[in-house]
Amino acid sequence: MDKFILDTCCGGRMFWFEKKHPNTLFCDIRKLEKGTLKNAPNFEINPDKIIDFRNMNLADKSFKLVVFDPPHLKSLEKNSWVSVKYGCLSSKTWKSDILAGFNECWRVLEDYGVLIFKWSKSHDNRRRRDTSIENILKILPVRPLFGHPSGSKLNTIWFCFMKIPAEINAHFTDPNVQGAPVHLPEYKGRIK
Ligand SMILES: C[S@@+](CC[C@H](N)C(=O)[O-])C[C@H]1O[C@@H](n2cnc3c(N)ncnc32)[C@H](O)[C@@H]1O
Repeated sequence: MDKFILDTCCGGRMFWFEKKHPNTLFCDIRKLEKGTLKNAPNFEINPDKIIDFRNMNLADKSFKLVVFDPPHLKSLEKNSWVSVKYGCLSSKTWKSDILAGFNECWRVLEDYGVLIFKWSKSHDNRRRRDTSIENILKILPVRPLFGHPSGSKLNTIWFCFMKIPAEINAHFTDPNVQGAPVHLPEYKGRIK
């Protein structure tokens, strides 16, 4: 299998250094033709495979690295060009959609595989608390190894997870390792 890296929602592949990386399966739920966005005429979404990250037609444990960069805007904002470019989540079901996507990423990841999850807080002040980094971590069933906020407003964070088999850490009693709410006290006050 030469495709051992999965980008579940590749969009315009903007964060890729090599946009046609030969070992990566680039997926998205939609295609977008060049010229659709007047302010970015060369922007296109052209996945190798159309998938829905909530229910991926891909084999269990078939990737060594999975990248999950879902939209973070809600459907209320869907008429903006940002929403056309980056997609949007349902304002009603976004939490369960993110969880389903995360679980699917985990399922297709092989043991000891790495999952990179990128999240950005909403730009909408009314929903900032909802999509805070602490709250997103409460949705996810696994605790990240580490993560770092980035961007001029520190509103984007890259999380790194590893699918360490449960038996490896059977002796490890930290209640935060799986499932429990995660606190990031070192970030409090820095991320607005
Ligand atoms: C934030 S953008 C990804 C940007 C990309 N990482 C890049 O480097 O340009 C999110 C993408 O998720 C896609 N998307 C939204 N819902 C999806 C779903 N259920 N399954 C797969 N892709 C989805 C959108 O079409 C959009 O292209």
